[in-house]
Amino acid sequence: MKEKLIAPSMLASDFGNLQRDTEMVNNSEADWFHIDIMDGVFVPNISYGMPVLKAIAKHAQKTLDVHLMIIDPDRYIKEFAQLGTDILTVHYEACTHLHRTLQAIKAEGMKAGVAINPHTSVDLLKDIISDIDVVLVMSVNPGFGGQSFIENTYNKIQRLKEIISMSNAKTLIEIDGGVTDKNAAQLAKAGADVLVAGSFVFKAEDQPQTIKNLKQLANS
Ligand code: DX5
Ligand code: ZN
Repeated sequence: MKEKLIAPSMLASDFGNLQRDTEMVNNSEADWFHIDIMDGVFVPNISYGMPVLKAIAKHAQKTLDVHLMIIDPDRYIKEFAQLGTDILTVHYEACTHLHRTLQAIKAEGMKAGVAINPHTSVDLLKDIISDIDVVLVMSVNPGFGGQSFIENTYNKIQRLKEIISMSNAKTLIEIDGGVTDKNAAQLAKAGADVLVAGSFVFKAEDQPQTIKNLKQLANS
């Protein structure tokens, strides 16, 4: 079976100690850095933008998984590539010409992700699934860390798995929001490939150990 991956969300890190927290992730069993960019328009919150991504990228030694919660993401694709982004994820709900956007991301040498809000049906991705490297299933409403997990996510994972295998696609399923040690094993068993965890990791006393536990649960 494919190894399940853990992606700590830097939104919950200590911005005053960004280098320290970035190095903690480097030295842990985590696989990806998850970086949430919010514009205050697509979601009711503003997180951080290019300068902070640049500061993280300077020290990060693992995959940079950038989650754009912004309208009109096409305007910034080139810039995100230049900053070292490995996977660039846009929201289904923010893209009128999603197919074109995905091609533009790949043309810059990045992997292309599509995020879907809790109300968005996975079936809407059916015709485009082979073009998507990662589907990011939001298990909370995007905009804030620390919210509680929406249980319907399990149904979405199951349906998405069917859609991916029907198309013989290699698409990964990533889950974002409210991931803890209570749901990590069940999410992985349901078919999730990557688990994002923000507050659960960064609020923990022993962060590397918390990442290690999540990784073990996901691969149990
Ligand atoms: C929410 C972000 C998430 C967030 C997850 O809009 O996309 O990545 O950081 O945080 P937790 O794990 O605290 O729910
Ligand atoms: Zn995210």
